[in-house]
Amino acid sequence: MTRPPVLAHTRAELDGVLADARRDGRRVGFVPTMGALHEGHASLLRVARERAGDGPVVASVFVNPLQFGPTEDLDRYPRTLDEDLAVCEREGVDVVFAPAVDEVYPEWPAQPQVTVEPGPLATVLEGRTRPGHFRGVLTVVAKLFGLVRPDLAVFGQKDYQQLVLVRRMVDDLCLGVEVVGAETQREPDGLALSSRNRYLDTDQRLEAAVLSRALRAAQQDAVRGVDAALGAARAALRTSHGVDLDYLVVTDPELGELPGDVRPGTEARILVAAKVGSTRLIDNLPLTIGTQAEVDR
Ligand code: PAF
Repeated sequence: MTRPPVLAHTRAELDGVLADARRDGRRVGFVPTMGALHEGHASLLRVARERAGDGPVVASVFVNPLQFGPTEDLDRYPRTLDEDLAVCEREGVDVVFAPAVDEVYPEWPAQPQVTVEPGPLATVLEGRTRPGHFRGVLTVVAKLFGLVRPDLAVFGQKDYQQLVLVRRMVDDLCLGVEVVGAETQREPDGLALSSRNRYLDTDQRLEAAVLSRALRAAQQDAVRGVDAALGAARAALRTSHGVDLDYLVVTDPELGELPGDVRPGTEARILVAAKVGSTRLIDNLPLTIGTQAEVDR
């Protein structure tokens, strides 16, 4: 039997509903989201549910204006709170925190005075085409951590750069939150689940699966080194005509450059971003260089 989550809109409501758990020292699990929840989010909620034990799981549903660029359509972002509540109920979430914009940014639409500056890692990959995006993400995550005060927070590996930056922020600012990276959920043909998949038409949806095929080809050929892995991914991408590649890179797991002479067994990450029609998609997978790796599904 599931129980509907308590819906909190304000900081005071959130504090009220978490007071007992905090007093009893129970672990608070947290999954920050922008809503429009799909099976990918549901899997994050399940990880939080499992890790929080008998403590409460909080999910936030907040479309964060600070992480949208001027050309990105904030107003078009899907808002589906009733459906989101149903997903949260199914996954055993105790509290849904769905604040209004001025609850999080009291001075909005004026920019907040104090924000989290993520540093150079936020200017590469996604940050190159979305300047200011990660400043917005880290600022809201820091604020949500301050409001929810979680012991652990779950983020998807799908947004790998975001996950790495959140971990960095937690370490650098000593926030004391355990950050858990949950595995990417995929369609049967490998396409990573994403809120953006809904914008793909039937042909584009078929084309989009080439991204994960390319990453899996790279995983297989990583046994022969980084160049072979990249070559295999590029060859797979060339089989598709509807995909406009932005980047395809192999980095170390923290998104830094790999050393020139990569030793067998070195852990790495391959990341891809491409437009399919007008929809920008991203994906990534772990690689083990020079070692026959188990290939991800
Ligand atoms: O990944 C997301 O949905 C958002 O970037 C997050 C972490 C909820 C911050 O708004």
